[in-house]
Amino acid sequence: MKKAYVKSYGCQMNAYDAARMADVLGREGYAATDSVEEADLVLLNTCHIREKAAEKVYSELGRLRVLKGERKEQGLDTRIVVAGCVAQAEGAEILARAPAVDVVVGPQSYHRLPELLARSREKRVVDTEFPVEDKFDHLPARRNKGVSAFLTVQEGCDKFCAFCVVPYTRGAEVSRTVAAVLAEAEKLAASGVREITLIGQNVNAYHGAGPDGGAATLPDLMRAVAAIPGIARIRYTTSHPNDMGEDLIRAHAEIPALMPYLHLPVQSGSDRVLAAMNRKHTADDYRRLIARVRAARPDIALSSDFIVGFPGETDADFEDTLRLVSEIGFESAFSFKYSPRPGTPAAERTDAVPEDVMSARLAALQGLLDRQRYAYQDAAVGQVVDVLVEKTGRRPGQVAGKTPHMLAVQFDAPASAIGGVVPVRIVEAGTNSLFGQALNEAAAA
Ligand code: SAH
Ligand code: SF4
Ligand code: F3S
Repeated sequence: MKKAYVKSYGCQMNAYDAARMADVLGREGYAATDSVEEADLVLLNTCHIREKAAEKVYSELGRLRVLKGERKEQGLDTRIVVAGCVAQAEGAEILARAPAVDVVVGPQSYHRLPELLARSREKRVVDTEFPVEDKFDHLPARRNKGVSAFLTVQEGCDKFCAFCVVPYTRGAEVSRTVAAVLAEAEKLAASGVREITLIGQNVNAYHGAGPDGGAATLPDLMRAVAAIPGIARIRYTTSHPNDMGEDLIRAHAEIPALMPYLHLPVQSGSDRVLAAMNRKHTADDYRRLIARVRAARPDIALSSDFIVGFPGETDADFEDTLRLVSEIGFESAFSFKYSPRPGTPAAERTDAVPEDVMSARLAALQGLLDRQRYAYQDAAVGQVVDVLVEKTGRRPGQVAGKTPHMLAVQFDAPASAIGGVVPVRIVEAGTNSLFGQALNEAAAA
């Protein structure tokens, strides 16, 4: 049997696409492999959000060229596919820079992979169209193995933050219909999935057609997914503050399966920077929003994204970000140095923040965010939490899972506990994980 090695970079949307492309390749007779050396097909599902990510892809393609040459000497064929957002943004440039690549395919056309692979035998191909047909209608059924699964419900973004490539690489906002999402969710549940994370670049802008033909909201969709037998937990990501409607806030109080966790990127605590970023909200808008969310669900765990060193960011602007973080308190967060992305308005700016200043700001911000995360983990010690068991743990005899607040927990239990929700007393906080004891050994078994 032929083997395919699939590697994904970037966001959850990309991870989802990678899984679906693996399914397409499976239908074409490729078995999945973790070893790139033995792969008859290598697929890199790329991300364009940061400079280094794209450069890493090019250096990886350089290594793959060598591997392809070595395999050829042994009489073995190797197909190389570049997918994802770098594929979308760079298109034919990839063929020019990376001679080993056979196929370049964008995030909206990967259902055509079989045809593209066949055509590339004659001539290397690029397909970065946004086709009229819906790729989801042309994908094989998911072969999901896990307890927790991502499900794409919305794609694209119309927000055009000044720094961001996503509106260009993923195109305009589109929502899948409720029926399409439910059909996929039901299959996932039937295959043993207990937790579904509804994903989209702008998931809370979801407005897919509902059963009555009118637009459904994300809370409507959540209620429908929560009603599927077997589904114990629902999450969603990523949201934009301006699409955080009252109904979604209320959903956090009303839908028991909706977990008390919200990833809500704010990017900066400075109104001047937020305006320059074209975020269309202020720091106080964000504070008020969080206050409303906390009023609906007091124990909600918050997560966010931050960019430091946006062009023109001053020390005072950065202090505003630190102040916002100190006031709100995040369980976890991603923080990045600003990176100019070709084609975005911010890339035209000439008032770049010096690299050393950016590094110092990033270190200060991450130090603060780390302290908040450790405080959050430490506060869990002694508590009893419901853990959805996802997999075996690091050590034999251990399993690993997540709390409702997304903290990772390891504890002793047989593998048969996987898929169950087990009450666990947290006894210790490690760096990236909590350690606990199942409250009821019998329940865990
Ligand atoms: N749709 C989501 C995710 C966008 S990409 C959202 O609106 O939040 C994920 C994160 O990458 C962004 O939130 C932002 O913090 C970061 N990011 C995007 N473009 C960037 C850039 N040019 N430089 C640095 N970080 C960037
Ligand atoms: Fe990018 Fe902004 Fe859209 Fe998020 S909301 S994907 S940061 S343009
Ligand atoms: Fe990256 Fe594209 Fe996601 S640029 S973050 S893979 S939408």
